[in-house]
Amino acid sequence: MVSEKIAQLINEQIAHEQYAAQYYLSMSAWFFAKDLDGIANYFRVQSKEELMHADKMFDYLNDVGGQIIIGEIAKPPHDFENAVDIFEKALEHEKKVTRSIFNIVKNANDEGDFATTSFLQWFINEQVEEEASASQYVTKIKMVCDNPSALYLFDQELSQRVFVPDTKA
Ligand code: FEO
Repeated sequence: MVSEKIAQLINEQIAHEQYAAQYYLSMSAWFFAKDLDGIANYFRVQSKEELMHADKMFDYLNDVGGQIIIGEIAKPPHDFENAVDIFEKALEHEKKVTRSIFNIVKNANDEGDFATTSFLQWFINEQVEEEASASQYVTKIKMVCDNPSALYLFDQELSQRVFVPDTKA
């Protein structure tokens, strides 16, 4: 049902999502090493969400009869300048993911592959949310990074984030 080209793009996207999971896990480790466990938790949950995104694509590609090919995942950076640098890189990465998803949607539209465009609608909405929250956290970390009391409260806020598994069985 799905074309080879769309299958290839989805396979690539699975690898992008898995890379994003590794990237955020690396960011999480940086914050754990700084004893900012709340912010570390935020990125760890983000990492789990990315794996969930990859899983959703894996399941979809299987459902539409595409060949699943697991790609190579590059080693993410681990040496970050500071907390602001990490949040800025996270936002940058989300924008990259959004462009990549739009590209699949564009190709699926061109092919009249409405199953794929419909499937990807969830990801488009998710990217709107992810970019909005990543952008908000860039603003917040810039506000608090030089003020230990404010940073403590920010760390507490982010410690509240929990991973919510996808409800689709
Ligand atoms: Fe799977 Fe953060 O995009």
